[in-house]
Amino acid sequence: MKNQKIECKCIDMTVDGLGICKYDSLVIFVKQMLIDEVAIVKIISHKKNLAYGIIDTMIKPSKYRITSPCKVAYKCGGCDLRHVEYTYGLKLKRDILDSTMNKMAKLDVEVKDIIPSPLIDAYRYKVQIPVKEKGIGFYRKNSNDIVEFDKCFVQSEIENKILNRLKELIKEYSLSEYLRHIIIKEAYGTKEVMVALITKTFNLPHINTVVAMMVEDFTMIKSFILNLKLGDDNVVLGDEEKVLYGSSYIIDTFADLEVAISLKSFYQVNHGQMLNLYNKVLELALVDSNTKVLDLFSGIGTISLFMAKHVKEVTGVEIVKEAVEDAKQNAKMNGINNANF
Ligand SMILES: C[S@@+](CC[C@H](N)C(=O)[O-])C[C@H]1O[C@@H](n2cnc3c(N)ncnc32)[C@H](O)[C@@H]1O
Repeated sequence: MKNQKIECKCIDMTVDGLGICKYDSLVIFVKQMLIDEVAIVKIISHKKNLAYGIIDTMIKPSKYRITSPCKVAYKCGGCDLRHVEYTYGLKLKRDILDSTMNKMAKLDVEVKDIIPSPLIDAYRYKVQIPVKEKGIGFYRKNSNDIVEFDKCFVQSEIENKILNRLKELIKEYSLSEYLRHIIIKEAYGTKEVMVALITKTFNLPHINTVVAMMVEDFTMIKSFILNLKLGDDNVVLGDEEKVLYGSSYIIDTFADLEVAISLKSFYQVNHGQMLNLYNKVLELALVDSNTKVLDLFSGIGTISLFMAKHVKEVTGVEIVKEAVEDAKQNAKMNGINNANF
């Protein structure tokens, strides 16, 4: 069956963007195939009644199919739906959630339309890129191969520029062998940037030169950190940190609040969607000035602080020590004294 070519129609899609086709009793999962499309599909693997395939020849494309300007859209494992028009992608995601909740979990819930993101591209506040001796880039889907790129469309222009300059310096000073990841965080409201190198050792040759060059070229960098990660498990960050420039956090603004974000602290990746989400929380929670709010998994306290002025008291619960410290500092910075973490 492998390498066989079959004409089939896509009838549904999986959560990670694979088209589902049926051919007699065979179910074929096809990369980047959209509902209602008809194509000649080449089988790349096959087991019993299940097969995986790729589109060999498109016969009838979906009217929602678009060509992504991203040069690595079909190689890198980052985005599953870059070949789909955005609003149709939202519908697909809504339908997947609907079927998961109502058909699979047999719950009886109404799944509403997804509130669109104000930004479709360049929305990500955090970028995390693996560094290998073979290259610096994202992993190919389900593999350890690195796909290099010079522009990632979900990252901001400045994140791309900082990453490209860092890649040049890492190459120039042969630093790859000492590094595991690069993390760049850019605060949407203030444009402050944190750069962190996740390293195998604190003794990086020429690191002070690299930092000096980076902060001179990119004055928005307010924090440059080395994080030491020993061992080879899947956890990205280690315990020890050295701040090489600026402070251990960056500041962002949202709604009428100011927040500090450390390297280890979680912060919503899409600023516009964060505001949409928090406004929805406020609307649906039906709080008033007598309400006591428990904010579980509170991160740096953003929901707590957002709710604080509408309620009597908020208590945030969070497992990451640095995030709790950030949350306490954030409450203080904003003159909020009815939020505890
Ligand atoms: C997706 S983040 C959400 C943070 C915050 N609510 C927000 O909107 O930015 C989830 C948070 O849960 C925290 N967390 C994970 N497991 C936890 C646990 N067992 N107890 C408390 N917090 C936990 C993580 O450290 C992370 O900060």
